[in-house]
Amino acid sequence: MLIFTKIADLKAFLSEIKAKNQTVGFVPTMGALHNGHISLISISKSACNITVCSIFVNPTQFNDKADLKRYPRMPEKDAAFLENAGCDILFLPSVEEIYPTGPVIETYDFGYLNSVLEGKYRPGHFNGVAQVVKRLFEIVEPDKAFFGSKDYQQVMIIKALIKQMQSLIEIVNCPILREADGLAMSSRNALLNEEERHIAALVPKIMREAKHIALSNGIKRAKDFVAAEILKVPVMKLEYFEICTADLKEIEKIDPSIKAVALIAVFVGKIRLIDNLELN
Ligand code: PAF
Repeated sequence: MLIFTKIADLKAFLSEIKAKNQTVGFVPTMGALHNGHISLISISKSACNITVCSIFVNPTQFNDKADLKRYPRMPEKDAAFLENAGCDILFLPSVEEIYPTGPVIETYDFGYLNSVLEGKYRPGHFNGVAQVVKRLFEIVEPDKAFFGSKDYQQVMIIKALIKQMQSLIEIVNCPILREADGLAMSSRNALLNEEERHIAALVPKIMREAKHIALSNGIKRAKDFVAAEILKVPVMKLEYFEICTADLKEIEKIDPSIKAVALIAVFVGKIRLIDNLELN
């Protein structure tokens, strides 16, 4: 695996690859890699000739500075993990390399997506995501880019960004990978202590039960159930649990002919976890 830290070197190398008509798959990450990321690398490897992974903890997408500070960073371990997974190129830029004039916030208009769910609770987050993903796309110019659907709303934002950029990059939405107890894989899981990690497994369990309740007794009952279950555990705090259409418009009734998805954000101690589950 080749490791690049400079944009010019990566671009020069990739232009040789592209001149040979080889396709490039891209997996942007913030590191602290887990098997969920590795599954994206595998999907990219099976779809493209060359796979590039970036690790960059993007300061502009953290609305909470404490979250940015404690975000897990382990580049050597990540590099070994990627090498083992058969990744071809790791791009590991500094903040100065990505934002030479400083990490100034840019503003993007994603309509209602900016103000619902994650957009509502993490103001500015998606602006930061769009800013860095656009920058990375312009550097790597991949044929396809791979994202995990645990970040359901992020995938929608990136698809909207691609439209705004009038780009031909194909955004590939990949399935959520889960631990044996059902917890969705996330870099943030590494920040949970043993007790919190145990408690975090309640999230997928509550979601599965809520899905059953929503389908049999309606959305209000499912929401009441989730709120009551989370309230029982002092270390947990519910930020939101919503049931929406596939394009994230909130609904009050399940219509079997329209795809619905349940989405949750919950704190376990100081660590904020998100998850989602398709209902039909
Ligand atoms: O999902 C992530 O890890 C980040 O939001 C991303 C897409 C790499 C942008 O920093």
